[in-house]
Amino acid sequence: MKKRIAIFASGSGSNAQKILEFFKKHPEAEVALILSNNPEAYVLQRADNFEVPSHIFDKQEFYKSDEIVSLLKNLQIDLIVLAGFLWLIPENLISAFPNRIINIHPALLPKYGGKGMYGDKVHKAVLNAGEEESGITIHYVNEHFDEGEMIHQSRFKIEKGDDLEMIKFKGQQLEHLHYPKVVEQILKKIKNKN
Ligand code: GAR
Repeated sequence: MKKRIAIFASGSGSNAQKILEFFKKHPEAEVALILSNNPEAYVLQRADNFEVPSHIFDKQEFYKSDEIVSLLKNLQIDLIVLAGFLWLIPENLISAFPNRIINIHPALLPKYGGKGMYGDKVHKAVLNAGEEESGITIHYVNEHFDEGEMIHQSRFKIEKGDDLEMIKFKGQQLEHLHYPKVVEQILKKIKNKN
């Protein structure tokens, strides 16, 4: 049986798109479900385009019930991939999927992470600090924002004159290139352990 991925996303889902494309004809893994807290999120359209089922949930369901855990277990999900998902992951989900939840962050953690640091806010903070480089971090998820064990980092140079859009673009290019491959590597390790 193919390894099964669930993606959580709150917004556009360009990273989800790259993962959907990468695994569309993959022999060993597939995206089985896309979940979102945001009924307006464009990622839901992307799920439809790939004929992948999606599930929308609210705070009550996510934080006050075990429904999401049951759904993911019933679907035999092997790996949970956060791709622009903005809510903190609750303890019941973390303990049901130990070392099976990963996140991508648009900066070089541990700098520029933590609660409230997402999307453009991260890039603005990097720019305002006058950093000469930035990058991306892929890490395991624990019960704190942006703090789990690091899996991958790649970096880019910030040139004189780079504005917010340019930094965002450079970061996105790295995210789109690396996230699907890192997901694949992790799934291979899971497979070898079984
Ligand atoms: C990505 O840049 C991701 O690193 C960031 O949200 C963006 C989602 O873009 N995540 C965070 O900031 C988490 N703290 P996308 O919806 O186009 O994939």
